Amino acid sequence: MNMSLGFLKKFVKLALGRASIVDIWPPIAFVGWRMATGTSPPWSEGGSNALATAFSRCDHELGSYLASKEVVLTQFQPQSVEVEVAQLRWRHYLVYWTATQASRIDGGEARNFVEMGVCDGLTAWYASKARQRLKCGGTFFLYDAWEGMRPDLLTASESRSAGSYSYLDIENTRKNLSLCGRDNFFFNKGYIPESFSQSSNPESIAWMHIDLNSSIPTIASLDYFWDRLLPGGIVLFDDFAWPGYEYTRTEVEKWCHSRGQDLFQFPTGQAAIFK
Ligand SMILES: C[S@@+](CC[C@H](N)C(=O)[O-])C[C@H]1O[C@@H](n2cnc3c(N)ncnc32)[C@H](O)[C@@H]1O
Repeated sequence: MNMSLGFLKKFVKLALGRASIVDIWPPIAFVGWRMATGTSPPWSEGGSNALATAFSRCDHELGSYLASKEVVLTQFQPQSVEVEVAQLRWRHYLVYWTATQASRIDGGEARNFVEMGVCDGLTAWYASKARQRLKCGGTFFLYDAWEGMRPDLLTASESRSAGSYSYLDIENTRKNLSLCGRDNFFFNKGYIPESFSQSSNPESIAWMHIDLNSSIPTIASLDYFWDRLLPGGIVLFDDFAWPGYEYTRTEVEKWCHSRGQDLFQFPTGQAAIFK
């Protein structure tokens, strides 16, 4: 640390009386998704972690497709999409990591994946890349309405989300994921939970990602797929600890308690159950 930086730190400590703020600054190695970390991220230069290296490759590949506008993420403003995705790197690393572990469990072709809430296919991209690297087999089932969120599937505290995502187009998601390599995708379009009775659903799964921004279909997805989740399989929740989704968190915690399952919450706000 040079002299001026040391002086500045002492000054800020004295002024604020709080060492905790200045002790993490500098250096900040990652900032994004309301999180700042000073530790080396797994994907940083010089690491020899094979999973992290593969993740980096997959992340760069997506970045190139975003830059060339071959992959289009309609949920972000076009001018800021690359920055937005870079800020989600820790989130995507956890998607990639859990998908890798799920691809390794016993089960062969029974190791199907399901994603509840797909949007333009951003998180599905990372999970699919992990499946492909491990030659996981099975099918990746994608569930989404690809229509605006329905008021009758929202609780009073979630009603602000009615109509959200009405701009989505399933054809854009298909096109995005067609560039992701050779995975076996199956698109289930419709509203959860009623879509379960109309769609083609796997009998067994290894990984489920739930990113529905609402509690009713979240709990319905857990109820529907829990018994189909293979031993060692993983459920990953996206916005588990995020402000605005408290009701979903409470319902998921109740659900886990009733089944004796422990949630592993991550600093990103995601959480996972390992069966
Ligand atoms: C946050 S987005 C998913 C984002 C995606 N996982 C990603 O990161 O790329 C939430 C998605 O849930 C879908 N959705 C919300 N409620 C639904 C329901 N009841 N049935 C089906 N899809 C629903 C929306 O259409 C939207 O695409």
